[in-house]
Formats: sequence, structure tokens, C-alpha cells
Amino acid sequence: MTPALCLIDRWAAHLPVTPRTPRLTLGEGGTPLVRAPSLERETGVEAVWLKVEGANPTGSFKDRGMVLAIAKALEERSGAVLCASTGNTAASAAAYAARAGLPCTVVLPAGYVALGKLAQAIAFGATVVAVRGPFDAALAVVKEIATHGEATLVNSVNPHRLDGQKTAAFEICESLGDAPDALFIPVGNAGNITAYWRGFVEAEAAAMSTRRPLMFGWQAEGAAPIVLGKPVAEPETIATAIRIGAPASWQGALRARDESGGAIEAVSDTEILAAYQDLARHEGIFVEPASAASVAGLRKRAQAGGLRGVSSIVCVLTGNGLKDPDTARSLSREVVEVDATADAVMGAIAHASRV
Ligand code: F0G
Repeated sequence: MTPALCLIDRWAAHLPVTPRTPRLTLGEGGTPLVRAPSLERETGVEAVWLKVEGANPTGSFKDRGMVLAIAKALEERSGAVLCASTGNTAASAAAYAARAGLPCTVVLPAGYVALGKLAQAIAFGATVVAVRGPFDAALAVVKEIATHGEATLVNSVNPHRLDGQKTAAFEICESLGDAPDALFIPVGNAGNITAYWRGFVEAEAAAMSTRRPLMFGWQAEGAAPIVLGKPVAEPETIATAIRIGAPASWQGALRARDESGGAIEAVSDTEILAAYQDLARHEGIFVEPASAASVAGLRKRAQAGGLRGVSSIVCVLTGNGLKDPDTARSLSREVVEVDATADAVMGAIAHASRV
């Protein structure tokens, strides 16, 4: 079997790459697009697809953009990379920097990064600094440090990040033979919705599709600056990945919404957690809470009768559930411990089926 092309080679014609761009790869992209039968039954939509971005090498969609940002940093002979992050960007930057042999610093909001993401940044050897304040404060700090010119900023304000991320839209068009009627996607710093829209516009121009989807972006209620039309000073949500009060790509998100005729709306933490649990229990796909915002949004719109004329939908599932073991544990009962005998285990099973 010939190995799959790396993301940079696969989509080189649509990316700012040159023959000198290093073909860095950890096997990113080419993620599964799977049907969601229980969501189809529930919403009455003919075809609901899930784009499982948690299947990327570090467990989130960030790898698509990070591979390109770090490859370009190498090409430009940068000596180090730097980012602020709610966790996934940090894990991805740390991994690709390790692969590229570049030192990496990640600046995180203290106390609000899911355990798996922190473990990844540490394992990949990044310098990890936590700041007192939300992601927005961390981003302001790294932007200031980047002006000193010693490290390349690899947040999505780096244009290569969004170029890499747009390849997910190409893959969707390729798999379905066209763009879906609508795309549902979580919104935090708003880079990903901006990247997908760019991808769908370019896919149509390149005859990979005949149309563009309606773009439906979903913020968490306690961190919904775009929905409110103003920054949120103290964003709060269980979905820590999208706990952001002043998105860097705000304008890009508005363009995606307005040019596509879609919407950016909010879902509550309760709705996010219900979708999170049901995705795992009924579709067999374990995502992190922020990722479930897209599915919570789909349900919300379906209930409100807001899906008329829509028969194919893709929900983007941005990150793997293993990123945030604490949320999974907090929602389950304690695991019972018994003696290692068949009787004791049968007793525990009988007890579990009664409660
Ligand atoms: N889902 C997950 C799992 C994320 O990690 C993020 C963003 C988003 C959705 C939202 O994407 O910011 O492009 O609108 N995580 C960033 C980070 C902020 O630092 O890892 P967005």
C-alpha cells in the first residue's frame, strides 16, 4: 500500500507552499466523515454527517493548520514558535515543533485547560506558562512578545493556520461529491469557521463543488461575544476550549455567516453536555465538550423548525473526548470495586442495572 500523501503535498496547489517548504507531517488530515443515524432519526434531516477531527495526530483539528504554520516557520528560518491557547493549539504546536526541532512556548489561561491537553504540551517538551486571566489575556501577551521578533506566532492570526484548516472543507466536498446544504461548527476564537468558509469558497471556484453550505456557528452561552455583538470580559463555560471573550477572527466569522446566509447562535452548557453524552452513547463518538456545541446547535435548530429545505448537514467534531477526562468522570458514577470473583462481579452488574 502506498502511504497517503501528507496534507501539504495533498493540497499543495491550494496552499502557499513552494518546493522549499519542508514536507513536515505527523499524518494529519484525511479524517473520518461518518453518518449519524441517531441524529438523523431525531432531527428528521435526511443525511447528518460527522467530521471527526479528533482523529488527527494530536486529537484536534488544529493539526491541519499547525503543520503548515510550522513548516513555513522552518522555511523562513524561524528559531522558535509561540502561541496562546485554551489547550488544543498548545498541544498541536508543541507536537509539530518537537517534530521540526524548534523550541516552543505555550501560554495558557491558568486553571482552565483540560488535563489531556496540558499533558500533551508537557510531554512534547514545550515551555508551558499559565497566566492569570482568560485566553484573551494570554493572546494579548503572546502578540506583544512576538513583536520582539524572536519567535513566530502560531495562533490563527498566523495566516498559514487558516490555510491549513480550510483543507477540511476540501475533504468534505471530495467525500460527498459536493458541499453539504449546511455546516455546523463550534466557534471560539473564530478561526475555524473562517477557514471552512474560505475552503468552501475555494472548493467551488476549483470545481470541487457546485455550491456553498449555509454556515451555522455555535458559541457557548457564557462566552458568546459574536452573538451578543460585544466582547465578554469574563467568559465562562464548561467547554473550556471555546471559553473566549474577544475572538481574533470575529470579522471572518461574520463574513462566513452573512455571505452564506447562515447564523451564529449560542447553546447552553446543559445543551452542550447533553449532546456530548449522546454522541458517545448513541453514535459511539467521544468528543470534548466544545466539539459537542455543533451537535447541540443542530438539535436546537431542528427543535425550533429552523432546518427547512436542509437535507444534508455536516457537524464538525473538533476534538477528541480523551482531551478532557475530568468532564467525563464528573458525569459518571464512581466505578465500583469488588473482589475478583465471578459472584462479586455479577452482584455489581445486578446492582448497576437497578440504579
Ligand atoms: N473546538 C475545539 C476543541 C477547540 O480547541 C477550539 C479552539 C474550537 C472548537 C474553536 O475553534 O477558535 O477556531 O473558533 N481552540 C483554540 C485553542 C482557541 O487554543 O486550542 P476556533
